[in-house]
Amino acid sequence: ATRAAMAQELKKESYKITGDPKKPDGAPNSFVKMTCSRANFRAAGWKDEDFKKPVITIAAPYSNSMPCNNQFRDLADILAEEVERLGGKAHFCFTPVISDGQSQGCKAMRYSLVSREVISDCIEVMHCGYHADAIITLGGCDKSVPAAIMPLARKDMLGLSLFGGPALPGIHPGCKKRGADGEVVDQGKALDPGKVMEAIGAYGQGLIDMEELHRAECHGLPGSGTCSAMFTACTMASVVEALGMSLPGTASTPAATRADPRSVTEKKRQDCAEVVAALFSLAEKGLSARKIITKEALENAVAVVYATGGSTNAVLHILAIAHEAGIPESQFNIEDFHRVGQAVPLIGNVSPHGRYHMSDLDKIGGIPVVMRELLDAGLLHGNCMTVTGRTVSENLAGTPAVAALGAQDVLYPVSRPLAPAGNHILVLKGNLAPESAVLKLSGKTDIELTGPARCFDDEDAAFEAIMAGKIQKGDVLVIRYEGPKGSPGMPEMLSPGSALVGSGLGKHVALVTDGRFSGASHGIMVGHVTPEAAVGGPIGLLVNGDMVTVRPAKRELSVALSEEELAARRREWRPPAPREGSFGALGKYAAQAGRGARFRE
Ligand code: FES
Repeated sequence: ATRAAMAQELKKESYKITGDPKKPDGAPNSFVKMTCSRANFRAAGWKDEDFKKPVITIAAPYSNSMPCNNQFRDLADILAEEVERLGGKAHFCFTPVISDGQSQGCKAMRYSLVSREVISDCIEVMHCGYHADAIITLGGCDKSVPAAIMPLARKDMLGLSLFGGPALPGIHPGCKKRGADGEVVDQGKALDPGKVMEAIGAYGQGLIDMEELHRAECHGLPGSGTCSAMFTACTMASVVEALGMSLPGTASTPAATRADPRSVTEKKRQDCAEVVAALFSLAEKGLSARKIITKEALENAVAVVYATGGSTNAVLHILAIAHEAGIPESQFNIEDFHRVGQAVPLIGNVSPHGRYHMSDLDKIGGIPVVMRELLDAGLLHGNCMTVTGRTVSENLAGTPAVAALGAQDVLYPVSRPLAPAGNHILVLKGNLAPESAVLKLSGKTDIELTGPARCFDDEDAAFEAIMAGKIQKGDVLVIRYEGPKGSPGMPEMLSPGSALVGSGLGKHVALVTDGRFSGASHGIMVGHVTPEAAVGGPIGLLVNGDMVTVRPAKRELSVALSEEELAARRREWRPPAPREGSFGALGKYAAQAGRGARFRE
């Protein structure tokens, strides 16, 4: 080789061996350059043959202290065994993970959305930093599901994601009616984390005693798995499946059984084997993430969110995924949720708005049935490619439509939906939200409300006011300085939201915030108010008694103040000192948060 050609070769980065390790083909080349790298791999136990295998990253956001992802070490081992059985070399990436359930009601929640970026970055660092060839990511608790595909979109990786699975619903000890399989028949006795949070509000109003509150605590979550209903984790698992980045049917496979609540199920083991086989096939086809995550695939994901009554958090996560996939805001933005979603009726009768849980949806076929129903109604792009190597239409060819399922009321047909199109997530605007705000209707139609603002500058103060009985019917509870930069970290307002519902005020008090809501939240909840208070948004200019209107029919969030009055108040307004300075994870996040509450470029 000429010196120029040798120099060119040395720029390549690969420790791979293609021939005899003592006489590799064409040395000197990149093989020489990576000698030290291989020396380290060898010290970690790699043999000559390992340098010839495809290296597969297995990324698992893991903690032993939470139910949502606590089975991920076992799942990672199962995936690794399967990878090695099929001739690959498994490379583990364990990342941090925050439990949204465990950070509710305290400042730890500020780390929740931040953790999405941290997990994404960890996966990128561990995959790219070790020259791996393809990747399987596990998603579980809320932020880890979008985080499991964001780096794939960002770096156009070859790979796919597997959802750890929902938990079964909890069962109240007073439940008398059980089916043959031991599951609840009386859905009123099924528990989930949302019901546990609402029990706090009911206790605050004296509607239940401490013994009943303790029952909710002890029976709300039966074992491993994410929140059992269409809260954010299951919403995002459905999004990932609808995007084509996970295998059909895997979003609803329960994580564990009631008899063995902390062990990996046989079905989940089978999912692992199928995921690894799909990965090798993807690699052969060169089908990388950006060939799958297209604008049309994002629209499919939005349609599934609206059909199932998914979480408002899907809005910011899907926007972040779009950003990572390199799809410009001019092609896909928050208005597309309105455009796509307003044609899609609500067909999923799933908690928090409905009666059932993900395990019930799983029994009738899971998200593929939802997608088949939407496809037949012309509400889905059937030609989008997926990680099966087939299109959405091809994947759904053998899936029954809702009408073919027989007697059940977990899913309704598009022709006779639970609620007509236009009654789920609304993107609002108005002089209180000049850019946007998000309202979840989930079929509610009678929630127009005008009332006096009751302003709180953080979540705790609002929660205490509700528990002390200081919020009245007709009030508009305003919680501000809880946005991405202000809080920082845009925490969920599940504590005050659930306290309102649990205390019986849910239908009579609107909650308006620049923070987020849990997927478990319901009631009259307007979140993601943009611009947020911390950057001068009008929500920060309100004072107690200002008359605020939430008018879904006109997609309006407004305050009865003139432009002159708002301008005068704006002149007096001063930005608050940052709560976290500029250091640490929260400080860095506050400085960087951008589209989809993700880091700016
Ligand atoms: Fe982890 Fe709900 S708390 S999924």
